[in-house]
Amino acid sequence: MLNKCLFPVAGYGTRFLPATKSMPKEMLPILDKPLVQYGVEEALSAGIRGIGFVTGRGKRAIEDHFDVSYELEDQVRGTNKESALVGIRELIEQCTFSYTRQIHMQGLGHAILCGRSLIGNEPFAVVLADDLCFGEGASVLGQLLEIFAEHRLSVVAIEEVPDERVHQYGVIAGEEVSKDLYRVSDMIEKPEQGTAPSNLAIIGRYILTPDIFEILQQTAPDTRGEIQITDALVQQAKQGKVLAYRFKGQRFDCGSLAGYVDATNFCYEELRSKGEK
Ligand code: G1P
Repeated sequence: MLNKCLFPVAGYGTRFLPATKSMPKEMLPILDKPLVQYGVEEALSAGIRGIGFVTGRGKRAIEDHFDVSYELEDQVRGTNKESALVGIRELIEQCTFSYTRQIHMQGLGHAILCGRSLIGNEPFAVVLADDLCFGEGASVLGQLLEIFAEHRLSVVAIEEVPDERVHQYGVIAGEEVSKDLYRVSDMIEKPEQGTAPSNLAIIGRYILTPDIFEILQQTAPDTRGEIQITDALVQQAKQGKVLAYRFKGQRFDCGSLAGYVDATNFCYEELRSKGEK
């Protein structure tokens, strides 16, 4: 139903220095697979094959990851290592990848606007690879797509976070129109302590209608000079055109050390319970 998914991957990953000094944070592995691959797999599992990356300086490893490495293929051919490349080969065969660069780091909204040339004039998904999501049943993107199919409006994934964490997220205000589905009336990006309208935080999965690009173009930078996707979405929300869904499943904030370690432990337990390693 959707053709394209945008991955903003230009960010520096300063919280993981020195590991991210010369390596994209999106290439940090959870077990033996880089974070960004989980995100692309999630898009493909939701039937989306057009993958667009908004990259930046020092991010070439991502392009190389989603390409064939002939030397490596040659080395492992016929050995027991070959099976480790099956998953990524399938992704490469089933998806098409396109890239553009965000020259100046001016926020998530700006990154999405940079991706306009890769998307064109159609609804699209956005995945923030830092947020590693494991949906219950369908993937989180798949769950958002079901809602989009019915309503044809922008949809964001939300989860309840403890009060002391609310200031780290975009937060919604809205009315619950059916179980776990909210019609958003307002949104605030990283509200100051005590000013949040709820503790329903936006997490890094979005489906956006293409009018968002025009809105982003008109959206003023915040006090830190960044254009926020949350501020653009507010314009759609004021017209009743944004839904938020409290997804079913688990999400790990792999942009933080604690979340990264939790995700690693979670995946390792899953693997062990399947008896695979
Ligand atoms: C971004 C968004 C924020 C959202 C968060 C989810 O913030 O701006 O609204 O809640 O992703 O991870 P960032 O974490 O990039 O600062």
